[in-house]
Amino acid sequence: MKTLWHLVKRFTGSLQQKSISERDHLWVQQILSYQEMVLWESMPQNDQHHSIEVARRVDKSLEKSEQTILTAALLHDIGKVTSKTGVGMRVLATLIGVVTSEIQHKSWSQRPGRIGEIGRYLCHAIDGASLLQKAGSDSLVVTWASEHHLPQHQWTINLEIGKILKSADDD
Ligand SMILES: [Fe+2]
Ligand SMILES: [Fe+2]
Repeated sequence: MKTLWHLVKRFTGSLQQKSISERDHLWVQQILSYQEMVLWESMPQNDQHHSIEVARRVDKSLEKSEQTILTAALLHDIGKVTSKTGVGMRVLATLIGVVTSEIQHKSWSQRPGRIGEIGRYLCHAIDGASLLQKAGSDSLVVTWASEHHLPQHQWTINLEIGKILKSADDD
């Protein structure tokens, strides 16, 4: 479960507008396929920044660079593009998510307005997996998007890879 401190840190961190350097942009382009790059470009800049931070940490943890694992890191949160929530709503959604069920989140995600936004944000793992499947991504990339908020015992991906990806992700 997320701590209050973690949420405060995320909230204050998200308030600063982050930009993407040309070097990082080129690095991402070298890793992703054309369709994946189209998805990645559709993320708000702060989310792109988070995805690069995570992928850089993963890259450091790997003995040698592995494109599929880096892609999984870069696109784990891609499902957030369907909710289009701002920072305040994300914090609220996370708090609501702790005390509500997945079935509720799925039903909210079909609704219009704020409740729909919250529902879609809370379903970003599943939505991301479906976007990546349509983009023809590798099964590791699709699976990690759907499993990245699940407890470790529910992962179906390789445990060692999952641990590297999870410890690099701070949300
Ligand atoms: Fe996530
Ligand atoms: Fe993340």
